[in-house]
Amino acid sequence: MSEEANLGKEEFECLEDLPGVGPAMSKRLRELGFHTVESMATATAKELAPAGIGEKKALQIIRTARSSMALSFIRADELMKMRQTVSRLTTGSKMLDELLGGGLETQTITEFFGEYGSGKSQICHQMCVNVQLASQRGGLGGGVLYIDTENTFRTERIVQMAQHLGLEPEKVIRNIVFAEAYTSDHQMFLLDNADEVIKENGIRLIIVDSLTSHFRSEYLGREMLAERQQKLNKHLHKLVRLARAFNAVAVVTNQVMSRPDIFFGNAVHPVGGHIVAHTSHTRVLLRKSARGPIRIARLVSSPYLPEGETIFKITENGIEAAVDEEKAG
Ligand SMILES: Nc1ncnc2c1ncn2[C@@H]1O[C@H](COP(=O)(O)OP(=O)(O)OP(=O)(O)O)[C@@H](O)[C@H]1O
Ligand SMILES: [Mg+2]
Repeated sequence: MSEEANLGKEEFECLEDLPGVGPAMSKRLRELGFHTVESMATATAKELAPAGIGEKKALQIIRTARSSMALSFIRADELMKMRQTVSRLTTGSKMLDELLGGGLETQTITEFFGEYGSGKSQICHQMCVNVQLASQRGGLGGGVLYIDTENTFRTERIVQMAQHLGLEPEKVIRNIVFAEAYTSDHQMFLLDNADEVIKENGIRLIIVDSLTSHFRSEYLGREMLAERQQKLNKHLHKLVRLARAFNAVAVVTNQVMSRPDIFFGNAVHPVGGHIVAHTSHTRVLLRKSARGPIRIARLVSSPYLPEGETIFKITENGIEAAVDEEKAG
């Protein structure tokens, strides 16, 4: 049985994707101020007439645009049914899983943020291996799409982690589809064109490590903040739609700098502000500790889980329990 969550809707990215809208027509529509599928979904047939579109055809296009968006009501019991297809992916640490309500969940985005060396990329690597485990072992039996913006993905590390879990390293490596993103535009392009790759490779985990580095270096200063925010939102929106459509886990990372001037409270802040804080998803702050391999994870934002904190450790084996979790219960 395919585990793909069939959310039943066809989704259209841009005007040209709508059946019946060719390049010439989309050009006329843009001249009229209709640039997106969203704007078409809320248009009236009369508004489209100046583009030379007859009423019947206009209604048809508008209806299609609407059907691709969540512009209708659904009952809460149906919503509950949709939630039931959500699966969980283990992090490798029982305590960290528990903090996250049983592991990383499919159909939403989990953001790991923290300063350099806090373990964001290590978690990404571990997830690449764990997702390939069978469900009895906390995996999803699926492949990975890894978008790397900082050239920090290492197959050697995957091999180490796979061996520790008793998996065949060559097989694990083969199930990871990798792409390096050279610019923020390229990064967006990769995700915008990922659906086929995801489908063909049975991908259940999509990683963007790091989500923000290119955006930060390219969109400098206050005057570019709005544009950067808008692009990032679009990118995240695309990601969450892919996660939903393929019942996949989505993981993004975001580097923040520690501020030595603050001694109390939350002593880290994202470079350039909370640029991704406002999209509804699970956010986990990672911190280094005084004890070498030990890391502190703090759940700072979740749609439904309480805030909380736990520890895990990074070793040669990968992400592991910080204490003997069986004994700790
Ligand atoms: N093979 C290994 N064995 C033990 N620990 C390791 C190993 N590889 C990496 N680490 C630990 O992980 C740390 C690096 O973490 P990671 O690369 O995930 O940081 P990051 O949060 O992604 O940082 P950045 O913001 O710079 O990308 C190292 O400093 C080390 O403590
Ligand atoms: Mg990293």
